[in-house]
Amino acid sequence: MADPQRTPSSAGKPGSQAWLFFRQWLKNPLRIAALSPSGQQLTGLMISELPQRASRVVELGAGTGVFTHALLDAGIPPDKLLVVELNAELHAYLHEQFPLVRVVNGNATELKDIATRDGFLTTGLADAVVSGLGLLSLPRALQKSIVEAAFSVLKPEGCLIQFTYGPKSPLPPDLLAELGLSARRGGFAWRNVPPASVFVFTRVRSEQLRAVRS
Ligand SMILES: C[S@@+](CC[C@H](N)C(=O)[O-])C[C@H]1O[C@@H](n2cnc3c(N)ncnc32)[C@H](O)[C@@H]1O
Repeated sequence: MADPQRTPSSAGKPGSQAWLFFRQWLKNPLRIAALSPSGQQLTGLMISELPQRASRVVELGAGTGVFTHALLDAGIPPDKLLVVELNAELHAYLHEQFPLVRVVNGNATELKDIATRDGFLTTGLADAVVSGLGLLSLPRALQKSIVEAAFSVLKPEGCLIQFTYGPKSPLPPDLLAELGLSARRGGFAWRNVPPASVFVFTRVRSEQLRAVRS
């Protein structure tokens, strides 16, 4: 049976997705930050880090929608999933593929405004932000503004789930300390091209913060 959350068109086939993705990489390699969409193993590891009973999720940098697809399959209702994609062509593709999902063409740094304008925040904050952005390669100031934007729409116990191609956290320790965040390393997707690690960022609880500062 056709899935009403997606448009069954040839544009959604893996080969054409990879070609669309690669074309965007040719136009702007730094911003796209990967040659091809994330593979199944990495996608599975990212989704496995969703908090139990998560129902409101934001996705940043969706590309051709591999995580979007998996989030819907994991039971996130389409109207409780806000997707922010900066690239206009990828945004148009996502909009066509996921007509019931809130897909916005915008910059992750403006997430708070986007989520407010879209009405996503009227029914509550998010349980998780799933990020496909190439955070590791961004300058510190841009990392900071994206991560601050992500936490501005998260519940106090909410988390930012991020993959990285490097061996270490894509956010440096001094930035984590400045933002009051802790990092936990999740799974390692060795079959991904290139292999990637998953990191989960959460707020350090206020009593822990006080202990660290005193
Ligand atoms: C490494 S690709 C990941 C795509 C997809 N999540 C995946 O894993 O296959 C990064 C994506 O983030 C998008 N992007 C880059 N900077 C962005 C920003 N500031 N705000 C929103 N999206 C951004 C790019 O256009 C691209 O689609």
